[in-house]
Amino acid sequence: MVHMLQVENVTKNFLGLRALDACSFSLDQGEVTCLVGPNGAGKTTVFDCITGFLNPDAGTIMLNGETITGMNRRKIVQKGIGRSFQNLRLFEELSVIDNVIVCLADDSGNDPITAILRPFHSQKILDRKRGEALKILERVGLEHKADHFVTQISFGQQKLLCIARVLATQAKVMLLDEPTSGLSATALKNMVDVIRQLSAAGMTLLVVEHNTKIVRDIADKIVFMHQGRVLASGVPGDVLERRDLADIYFGGGN
Ligand SMILES: Nc1ncnc2c1ncn2[C@@H]1O[C@H](COP(=O)(O)OP(=O)(O)OP(=O)(O)O)[C@@H](O)[C@H]1O
Ligand SMILES: [Mg+2]
Repeated sequence: MVHMLQVENVTKNFLGLRALDACSFSLDQGEVTCLVGPNGAGKTTVFDCITGFLNPDAGTIMLNGETITGMNRRKIVQKGIGRSFQNLRLFEELSVIDNVIVCLADDSGNDPITAILRPFHSQKILDRKRGEALKILERVGLEHKADHFVTQISFGQQKLLCIARVLATQAKVMLLDEPTSGLSATALKNMVDVIRQLSAAGMTLLVVEHNTKIVRDIADKIVFMHQGRVLASGVPGDVLERRDLADIYFGGGN
């Protein structure tokens, strides 16, 4: 069976430290997989390797059967893998909608010279992009904030905006690094609803999540990492019931 995303024996060293050690797991289309494990387990490093921010020292990453290991990050976005970051990386001086518009794939041929020579044509393209961006903002419940500046919306809304930006890249696989961390109860519920809706619409999601209650709520599958290795993967019931993993996770054990 061809998986949507397959990570096979990926190893990454930072000088003397083995951050990933023959790490293997797969994601299937439309499923939410939660990547869990204690601090320093290698979760963000996995994201970095999948998205081309880091080159693995060994191993293979495949998207829909195609090897993408070592491709540059722009190419990987074009192939359909998008990510959010632990630190949000939004343009704070731009409006909410402009933060989405800058992430839309630009096949319009619009450029500064066109804007000067054919202003009406340029305006039409901008209007179309605004329409597309508004539809994306609707999917995360932020359309009413479109013209606010990033600094005027709440932290929870900023996190939803990060997801909207990934949607704008037309991602088929979305990697979310701690999307619920630091959220209030209401914002957390919104985020969980958005993740569920994306999955129901066919999105493949890999979500780093520390809260086991949320993991139970959203995960079809769990991948449990520790010290760069995948110690277990499977349905939440099986993985979360394992006493040895709970000891590692909550006790910081080795
Ligand atoms: N650029 C880097 N240079 C050196 N060491 C790094 C680098 N990035 C990560 N590491 C180390 O690799 C290991 C894995 O880090 P990583 O950030 O992937 O963990 P994590 O599971 O995302 O942790 P957290 O839950 O704290 O976000 C850690 O020991 C970390 O200190
Ligand atoms: Mg991390």
